[in-house]
Formats: sequence, C-alpha cells, structure tokens
Amino acid sequence: MKVLGIETSCDETAVAVLEEGEKIIVNFVSSQIDVHKKFGGVVPEIASRHHVSNIKYLLKQAFDVVKPNDIDLVAVTYGPGLVGALLVGISVAKGIAMSRNIPLVAVNHLLGHIHSIFFSKKVEFPFVALLASGGHTEIVYVENETTVKVLGKTVDDAAGEAFDKVARVLNLGYPGGPAIQKAAENGNPHIYKFPRPLLNSKDYNFSFAGLKTSVLYFVRDHPKANISDIAASFQEAIVDVLVKKVFKAARDHNIRNVVFVGGVSANKRLREKAKEYAEKWNYSIFFPELSLCTDNAAMIARAGYFLYKKGYTSDIELNAVPNLSLDKG
Ligand code: KG4
Ligand code: ZN
Repeated sequence: MKVLGIETSCDETAVAVLEEGEKIIVNFVSSQIDVHKKFGGVVPEIASRHHVSNIKYLLKQAFDVVKPNDIDLVAVTYGPGLVGALLVGISVAKGIAMSRNIPLVAVNHLLGHIHSIFFSKKVEFPFVALLASGGHTEIVYVENETTVKVLGKTVDDAAGEAFDKVARVLNLGYPGGPAIQKAAENGNPHIYKFPRPLLNSKDYNFSFAGLKTSVLYFVRDHPKANISDIAASFQEAIVDVLVKKVFKAARDHNIRNVVFVGGVSANKRLREKAKEYAEKWNYSIFFPELSLCTDNAAMIARAGYFLYKKGYTSDIELNAVPNLSLDKG
C-alpha cells in the first residue's frame, strides 16, 4: 500500500510517499523560512499563497517517482495550524482522493510529530513523549500508534515560540531555535539565572511567557551584556524545565521510554541534558533524525496509514480545524 502524505499547516509545504506506512519513498519539504524571515515570524496570508504555488512542484516531483495511479491512500494534516495554510493541503488532498477514487484520511499534526520517531527508532509502547514545537509544548502518554493522552501542556507560549521571541529580542533572526543554539555555543549558561517557570509544580504543565519577559527586561536593563551568555543562560533555563518535567511524567507513570519530538527536539543542549538525565536514572531516550524533527509529510503519511488501518477515513466534507487539540484526535 502506498500512502501520499500532505502537510501545509504552517510555513513548510511538504509531500511524502510511504510504502506500507513505514518505508519512505519520497519526502520533500519546501520551507518558506526565507520568505518570512524579514517579518520575524510567519505571516499567515503569505504562507497560504506560497503553499498554493509550492505544492504543485512538490507533487510533480513526487509523481515523477511514484505514479499517481499507484497511490492507495491520501493522508492530510487538518489541524492544528493556520486556517488558510491548512485549507491548501486539504483541498489538494481531496482533489487527488476524489479523482482517483481512493480513501482520504485526516491527520492531527501533533499525532504526526509523534510518528516522526518511528522512522529511525523502534520504541516499545507505552511511552511518554515531549512534543515541543513552534506552536505546541505538551507531554503526552502514548499508548499505541493512534491512542494518546495529553498529560500536560503549556499554559501560554510554546517552547519554540519562546526561542523565536527571545531570538528576536537578541536580534539573532528567525527561526530563533537554531539561532539561539548557535549563539549559546560561545556563552556561559550559568552566568545569568533566568526563571524556570513551573519547574517544581505537581502537574505536567509549562509556562514560558514569564521567562521570555524576564529576558526582555534583562536586555533592556543591561544593554552591554554579552549576547552569547544571555542566549546560553536562556537556553539552559528552558531546557532544564523541559527535561525535568518530561522525566517527572515518565517516573510518575512508571514509564522507562522517553521520546522527544517537534522542532525543539533538534536542540543540541536538550539532547545533551536528556542524555545526562537518562544515563543517571536509567531511562531509554529517543530523538528523531534532525530532518524529521521539524514539519514534514512523512510523519503525516505514517500517522494516516495507522489511522486508516484502525478504520478511520474522512469524506469530502473534511475541513480545517485550526485549534485542534491532540486529545480530540
Ligand atoms: O515542529 P516545527 O517545525 O513547527 C511547528 O509545528 O511549530 O517547530 C518549529 C520550531 C520553531 O519555533 C524553531 O525555533 C524551533 O522549532 N526549533 C528549535 C531548533 N530547531 C528548530 N528550537 C531550539 N533548538 C533548535 N535547534
Ligand atoms: Zn509541527
């Protein structure tokens, strides 16, 4: 069975084809980072327009490798994300499914991120996952490929959003995560003590708005402070909270396998710190390949394949759900 995956929820247009939901035949991503860079963040209207023009090229490239007639299932992201951006992928997916008379399956982008781990790693269920991206930061109990329970989430900014906003304050550019990571390489992570919000709270929630504001005030009050030191100290604070809370969730639920997914899981310091913790306390940790941490369609095709196997399909009425939560499937 060949599954076509389509992803257009934010600023990456992506198309992939998988064989039996496992083997990647093609996986194309066209990033709009350069387009949005000058605005310091994603401009929804511009993102939609670029999806419209980019998707045809990606599909053409994919269909040069796998003939449209050989596709058996279309999987598409229907939320969460930018409504205009989601609608581009959904409309294209519907068109292909209708014209070929093949099933269509709607995929939650967040479930897709969880599937990004399986391409390179074999992880036994159940496991606990930290899903940290530009729009979401959640701790999830993953029972199987399609059944997940959200244990906690951010009450304000997402971790990636905090990286992006702090990078803007430090004039490091967009996207902020890789820029802060790079600046932090030459900095001292212990020189400034930024707050670690909700670090010791009993729940599994996060809050990063206060941390971001405290960096903002610090920069305003110390204009001569070293940027690399600020970047390293901020990164250390956010990574401390992410690592401590995901392992707390694992310990409380008696789980030894801890998975990290989403754009922020590309972060080098997060990977180091998680490794230190896992070695000390005897957990197994899993990170996706770097190229699969950020948005892609292979993860959507894989999640779609397993949803289809469980009997889920969508019809022509499928619409975008911009604030879809992971609990709602
Ligand atoms: O998963 P993703 O591609 O898109 C969303 O679904 O949001 O995540 C993008 C986010 C951005 O906020 C970006 O700054 C962050 O992931 N990111 C990183 C790193 N690479 C990307 N954050 C920290 N360190 C990185 N190396
Ligand atoms: Zn994402």
